[in-house]
Amino acid sequence: MAVRCLITAGPTREFFDPVRFISNPSSGRMGYALAAAARAAGWTVDLVSGPVALPEPAGVMLYPVVTADEMLRQTDALFGPCDVLLMCAAVSDWRPAVRRPSKVKKDGRGLTVELEPVPDILSALAARRRPGQVLVGFAAETEDVEANARAKLERKGVDLVAANSVAGPEGAFGAEHNTLVLVGRDGFRRQLGPASKDEVARQLVAEVSARISAR
Ligand code: CTP
Repeated sequence: MAVRCLITAGPTREFFDPVRFISNPSSGRMGYALAAAARAAGWTVDLVSGPVALPEPAGVMLYPVVTADEMLRQTDALFGPCDVLLMCAAVSDWRPAVRRPSKVKKDGRGLTVELEPVPDILSALAARRRPGQVLVGFAAETEDVEANARAKLERKGVDLVAANSVAGPEGAFGAEHNTLVLVGRDGFRRQLGPASKDEVARQLVAEVSARISAR
């Protein structure tokens, strides 16, 4: 069966002047591992990626973006025909309310930057999903990992949430290894890993494959 998969990966950046931004420590590794695993499963892969220092995975269409707005526009354009969405990107939740056109000069005093929320990409896509599409969100949590992930299933309108602990030195950001707890609306729960991000990605793609075949 031909499967078309849309994957987001990496962080987003939100600039408040031409040389300064807020972001997060996402390396993009999990999303890129998912792209490789999806490709290995024979899926057609569109990868929308924030700024990362990783080689382009072979055999996928890569769409580089920087800001949450750019990621929203690009995923929106690719979402219609996709069968599977793996929303792995660590979207920076706020952006500076004002982006100044020239570099802010230091004057020896502090600087206050007002932040406003960015659009919730996953919720926006889920609101116009087609029957048969499988939507997977990711939950980066520092506490109550599983309970928070379950709450996101409903809030975001997705089928599965893969929960990730990002707390402390064992956290997922930038690490080689990962443990995900995959939860579903029907009470489904399965732990993936601990294993390399490549292996965890392979297991997640296998879970999603099983759901597509069941439909
Ligand atoms: N997400 C998104 N757009 C945003 C923020 C998050 O699409 N502006 C997606 C992430 O890619 C992930 C899921 O929503 O798949 C959950 O992200 P997470 O940061 O864990 O949760 P938030 O919704 O931001 O909630 P909170 O920060 O309160 O935990």
